[in-house]
Amino acid sequence: MKKLTFIFTLLIILSMAVVMVVIPSQSKGQNKTVKEQTNKIPDNINKIVQNSCAPCHMQGGKGMALAHLNFSNWETYSPEKQADKAASVCKQLTKGSMPPKGFKASHPDAVPTAEQIKAVCDWADSLKKK
Ligand code: HEC
Repeated sequence: MKKLTFIFTLLIILSMAVVMVVIPSQSKGQNKTVKEQTNKIPDNINKIVQNSCAPCHMQGGKGMALAHLNFSNWETYSPEKQADKAASVCKQLTKGSMPPKGFKASHPDAVPTAEQIKAVCDWADSLKKK
């Protein structure tokens, strides 16, 4: 009887170990498909984001800003959401409302140039469904 209990316990532990190995590898596979379907931010755009937007719109940024847009999660956005957000980024930059006035005043190096804004808008256009 005791031996049976031992074998039973062993079986439970073994099946738990199998589940723990199988489930994470499955979800890893899913992440990969998400990545393949969505678009990475190109290097030239990423440079602008890092320089001008990261302090608020990336991991560790400002809550209000992150609620609208979190570049750290970009690759988890659906292609539609990416196109949508990129278009809104182009709009904010063109209007000059992002980065916010106060930030531009205290970080003159982070003010996007006209060329950078054009690059962002070209990128946003390229994400739109044709
Ligand atoms: C100093 C912090 C800060 C920086 C730097 C900053 N933002 Fe923002 N951003 C915010 C905040 C705060 C909000 C939310 C504003 C609101 O709710 O009215 C926001 C909102 C946005 C929105 C959504 C606007 C809307 O009305 O839907 C976009 C798009 C955006 N930012 C793009 C950018 C881009 C692109 C950059 C870099 C070029 C940038 N931001 C830099 C703080 C920042």
